Amino acid sequence: MLRALYPGSFDPITNGHLDVLARAARLFEEVIVAVAHNQSKQALFTTEERVELLSQSTSHLANVRVTSFQGLLVDFARNQQAKAVIRGLRAVSDFEFEFQMALMNRSLEPNLEALFLMPCEEYSYISSRMVKEVARLHGDVGRFVPPCVQKALQARFGAALPKGDATGDATGAATQN
Ligand code: PNS
Repeated sequence: MLRALYPGSFDPITNGHLDVLARAARLFEEVIVAVAHNQSKQALFTTEERVELLSQSTSHLANVRVTSFQGLLVDFARNQQAKAVIRGLRAVSDFEFEFQMALMNRSLEPNLEALFLMPCEEYSYISSRMVKEVARLHGDVGRFVPPCVQKALQARFGAALPKGDATGDATGAATQN
């Protein structure tokens, strides 16, 4: 089976991630979305929550499986018999990190190819980090994330303020780490 791995932090998944994933799912027989347990990064959502949000957001994609992994990506990829690692490239600024990571992974496992897919332009500026910041400050993130993620962010930070009502103290519900 021609299988690819789409790894990431996905804290949380955005419409940009979903766009890249849908493209990958058209190219491969199976795509495994793999949430990295990353001890060094302080995440808003637990690994289990991120897997759950991904599962809900990808239920329409029949050949997509969601899981999590610990340790080296290349070891997990080998274990899953994946032929390629998918990564999204939004802008030139993504390139340097992705280039280094791809070459490091290649030196660890020469048989694993890195494949870069560009999301639709309308998602090219979206990142999980900015989505969290907007949600934390009670902005509307409905255009940037799937509905289940919007609900989860609202549960953490409270609902978005109505347009033009930005005078209040937006720190009340914001207990983000
Ligand atoms: O969404 P992110 O945070 O850019 O994803 C980065 C990720 C999880 C793909 C990367 O950190 C990773 O592969 N972590 C697993 C550990 C590993 O294999 N590190 C060596 C390659 S740099």
